[in-house]
Amino acid sequence: KEWTTALRYKNYQEWDPTYIQKLIENLNQSKWKLSYHIQPQSGLLNDPNGFSYFNKQWHMFYQAYPMGPVHGVKSWAHMISDDLIHWSYEGLALLPDTEYDSHGVYSGSAFPVDDKLFLMYTGNVRDKDWNRHAYQNGAWMNSDNTMTKIDQPLIPAPPVGYTQDFRDPQVFAYDGHYYATIGAQDTDNNGQIVLYSSQNLTDWSFLGQLQYTPEQMGFMVECPNIIFVNNQPVLIFCPQGLDKKVLDYNNIYPNTYITGSAFNPQTVTIEDASDLIHLDEGFDVYATQAINAPDGRALCVSWIGLPEIAYPTDTEGWAHCLSLVKELSLKDGHLYQYPVKETISLRKNERSLTGNLNSSTTLLAENHSNAYELELTISKNESGTLTLLADENHTSGLTLSFDTSTGTITVDRSKVGAVFATEYSSIRTATIPKNTDLKLNVFVDHSVVEIYINEGYRVLTSRVFPNENQTNLFISGEKQTSYTGKIWALDTAI
Ligand code: FRU
Repeated sequence: KEWTTALRYKNYQEWDPTYIQKLIENLNQSKWKLSYHIQPQSGLLNDPNGFSYFNKQWHMFYQAYPMGPVHGVKSWAHMISDDLIHWSYEGLALLPDTEYDSHGVYSGSAFPVDDKLFLMYTGNVRDKDWNRHAYQNGAWMNSDNTMTKIDQPLIPAPPVGYTQDFRDPQVFAYDGHYYATIGAQDTDNNGQIVLYSSQNLTDWSFLGQLQYTPEQMGFMVECPNIIFVNNQPVLIFCPQGLDKKVLDYNNIYPNTYITGSAFNPQTVTIEDASDLIHLDEGFDVYATQAINAPDGRALCVSWIGLPEIAYPTDTEGWAHCLSLVKELSLKDGHLYQYPVKETISLRKNERSLTGNLNSSTTLLAENHSNAYELELTISKNESGTLTLLADENHTSGLTLSFDTSTGTITVDRSKVGAVFATEYSSIRTATIPKNTDLKLNVFVDHSVVEIYINEGYRVLTSRVFPNENQTNLFISGEKQTSYTGKIWALDTAI
């Protein structure tokens, strides 16, 4: 199928239902289907949207193009959960069906107000010359999950000085006011974040350009979020075209954050902002959305996928998934991310893994279903290699090489299954303080690996597409130290 512009923007109603049914079947038969990560019902999933707790349930929406593995005209698909782990698909909740969102219901956020959920999103519109117009729109969802769009845009146009690349409103409350951050591009082609405020969620006023870095943030910033972790502001965002001298990166676009001492809406500033830091050191995290949940936790969820990159499931007609829901915390000024405690409920069939590392490779687990959590503690001063998704002879797999004396962890995905995106390098490296024990919690789900190092001090999230025989785990080391660990099969949750 050739994905022409006309095809990508064809009305959903004009597609043959048997075609969509076939797409769903293909996904369900895929060996790379996920069992506890949110994936599309059919076609393509990208950014998490509208993550919220409302009416005693968790709500998650995501950018959806149900007709194929491409970025066609987008909708919001809706998922509901009681525990952040088991999610049910509720169908498409916001369709591109008005003059203010005809070419895509783009990313946005949600905020519960009394017995309704307020949603704010970008309506992407192309005029007859295919010029883009960005509207920031609203909708209200009732407790029975029925949705009503607000008929006029809340922010009908970008302010003077900004282009129509203006999107992804993130609503939050601070000190008795509502605020929204929006990703923007100024007319000099610099990536910016702008701030709006509102008293009633209907009338919005432009406060200015957020001050958080002296550096240029590439040509565009997508998906900015301000979240408060231990009362400190953390700004999470995706700069596109960032100069690698500002922050070195390998992914096509990085998902970064800064921390600050205070959010000052009067001066539109994140005070005492840190340098830019990678949110995730892996291959595929983007468009992370964070919320301050009513239970006091700071939570986030990421798109595991990147724009403008082909993935092996494209040939099966589907693409991408969301991460586990992660809790954010700050310890000694460092941001930690770790799957929410509810994730433990997926564990079953616990096995302990204890032994001594030596240069001959040890088989840790054999013929394992590729849905598990591995917890492993390795002593300081050890170095070696953990191979996940390995074939029975240990000639291929996803390798995680560690050297605790230098505090270096290197992941290489060049020898597992269907290899892709090699022009962005197949290696990623994360560092931890030298000469400390290394604790790994690795969540494998068929074609996703989320690696949490030292309780979330570092995270590496990656797609990998193993062959059917790549189901073994091996470990080797150099200094004969002992390791301890556990492995749990993880239940199906989706
Ligand atoms: C980020 C993004 C957003 C936009 C959405 C469209 O991945 O480009 O900026 O709102 O995806 O699907």
